[in-house]
This record gives sequence, C-alpha cells and structure tokens, in this order.
Amino acid sequence: MDATIRILGLAGSLRRDSYNRAALRAAAGLLPPGASLTILDLPDLPGFNQDLERQMPPAATRLKQVVRDADAILIATPEYNYSVPGVLKNAIDWASRPYGDSAWKGKPVAVMGASVGAIGTARAQYHLRQCFVFLDMPAVGQPEVMIGNAAQRFDAAGELTDATSRQLIGALLSALVDLARRHGR
Ligand code: FNR
Repeated sequence: MDATIRILGLAGSLRRDSYNRAALRAAAGLLPPGASLTILDLPDLPGFNQDLERQMPPAATRLKQVVRDADAILIATPEYNYSVPGVLKNAIDWASRPYGDSAWKGKPVAVMGASVGAIGTARAQYHLRQCFVFLDMPAVGQPEVMIGNAAQRFDAAGELTDATSRQLIGALLSALVDLARRHGR
C-alpha cells in the first residue's frame, strides 16, 4: 500500500468569505483514496525583502517548512487585475529564497481558481504557471479548473454547489495524486 499523499492547499485570498478558500474546502471532500489535504491560510507575511532572506521572519520560515513537509501543492487563486494576487505571489517569493534553497523545487502542483468574472481566473492561472517553470514544479496540465461567475456556483454558506466544478476538482485532485506518485512521493 502506497503512503498517503499529503497535499498542502493554499488560497491566494485573505478575504473572510473567499470563494477560493471555499473551493479548497470543497476539495477536501473530493479527495481520491490515499490522499489528505491540509489547508493553510496564507500567513500574515511582510512584503518580501531580499535583505531578510537569510534571517526570515518567523511566518516565512514556518511557510517554508509546511511546503517542505507536503508531498504536493494545490493552489486556489483569485484573479486580481488579470494576474496573481500579491499575497500569493509574496508567499511564493518568500518560500523560494534564498537562491538554491527553495521549498517549492520539485513539488508537484495543481492550480484552480474562482472569480466573479466570466473567465474564472484563467489569466491569473497562466501567470502562476509561468512561475512554476522557474520554480521547477511539475504541474498538472489537465483538467483546468476555472470557476467563473462564482456567486452562482457557491451557496450562501460557501458550499460549492455546482456539479461540474465539483467533478473537475475531483479530477484535478486525482491527476495531482498521480503526478505526485510518478515523482516518487
Ligand atoms: C478583482 N476581481 C477580479 N475578477 C476577475 O475575474 N478578474 C480580475 O482581473 C479581477 N480583478 C480584481 C482586482 C481586485 C483588486 C479585486 C479585489 C477583485 C474580482 C474577484 O474575482 C473577486 O473579488 C473574488 O471574489 C476574489 O476571490 P476570493 O477572495 O472570493 O477568493
């Protein structure tokens, strides 16, 4: 029996009623056998400062450790101004440094996103995928999970009620677990 694949879920939103955090909660109920999901609220990190990368703030050190401890990463990103929200990019930057000691290197990753717009974070997701190239993170290609018009796909309690979105998230998680196993996790 293979060991459990421990997935770390990160939402790129600090908003209390975030659709992206709600999508991660939905993912926790859609896992394939042999996988677990721990959701980490993005810590209150200062803006990245390279002067501090060898004496990181404690929140950045903790973030690096939980990333290192994970077998795979699931990111739920909002789209801000057609791109990745600053809080998410900032967390990525902290955990990538100092050069040569990135916590992201080699971590299988899957991305999804929810937005109130029609395109469901497509532009932000492609910007995020560009980061994965330099970070050397093998990324799930398909399915792409872009939850547009989010207000119609979650109920008032933050439950993901849209059947297609739920099916896609389940397929994304299966693909992530397969990818992690192929990478020896
Ligand atoms: C947005 N929003 C947004 N939506 C979108 O589809 N494309 C975009 O480029 C933007 N840009 C944008 C910028 C900023 C600064 C904010 C605050 C919002 C709307 C966004 O989809 C909406 O606020 C979501 O609810 C954000 O995700 P969470 O916080 O619900 O997870």
